Amino acid sequence: MTAPKEISTMKTRLLTLALLLVVPSALAHGTMVAFFGGQIAESGDYRAEFAVRDGAIRVWLRDHDDKPVKASGKATLLLNGQKLEADLAAKDDGLTAPVPVKAKDKLAAVLGLVVDGKPVSVRFQQAEMVAPTVSGPAEAGRKTFEAVCATCHGGALRGTDNGPPLLHPFYALGSAHGDDVILAAMNDGAKAHMWKFGDMPKPQGLKPGQDKEVLAYIRAVQAANGLGGAPATAAADPHAGHGH
Ligand code: HEC
Repeated sequence: MTAPKEISTMKTRLLTLALLLVVPSALAHGTMVAFFGGQIAESGDYRAEFAVRDGAIRVWLRDHDDKPVKASGKATLLLNGQKLEADLAAKDDGLTAPVPVKAKDKLAAVLGLVVDGKPVSVRFQQAEMVAPTVSGPAEAGRKTFEAVCATCHGGALRGTDNGPPLLHPFYALGSAHGDDVILAAMNDGAKAHMWKFGDMPKPQGLKPGQDKEVLAYIRAVQAANGLGGAPATAAADPHAGHGH
């Protein structure tokens, strides 16, 4: 009766083989985390990150060790049923093209990149950002957000070249970056630890109590865009939902 033993030996060998195959490549594969708050897609040896800004798109290409890769190429965007083509030009560690888009727009993109003479093609799409109708503290928070935070986090909360998106699962209700972390960022700034934007300086010009209003606004925008929890307006505004 050697069969079961043989089988278990074989299983062990297969498992070892699987580990040998999986572990080194997993280690070599860096992270799928976006460095600049964009979306990530893989194509062959490369990992592309894509983000939409107000008036431009941004693209970063890196290898599986997360090293930036020089590329050139073209973007084809589908926006409101219209096709736009744009040449991508080098900027910082990535590429950019000025295009008449907004960060909040619904769009689809096909990037035709060229690396060392070889074509690399990646596709992305994003949904339209839903701007919720807010009132009370969340409406006050919206105004403060636009005056104090939007230069870095974007009017659509989808990030800019100066700061990450807050309309992001990382910062959703119940995530590791809960209310306390968001309030702390507003009161103290934040050390760079998630992205490659650098540190967030302590925001200037926030008056006492405005942090909670901004938080209510951020939660309302997240909720309106499917990022968890009840709309923060209901919790933060004692008059919401009472027919006033
Ligand atoms: C000068 C640019 C700038 C401004 C203004 C700014 N931020 Fe930031 N913020 C950043 C950067 C950069 C980071 C990323 C830090 C990191 O790598 O995690 C960040 C991170 C954050 C985080 C995540 C903090 C953490 O610990 O993970 C929150 C929440 C946040 N910002 C909220 C706000 C709010 C709300 C405002 C307005 C009151 C604001 N920020 C204003 C640049 C800015």
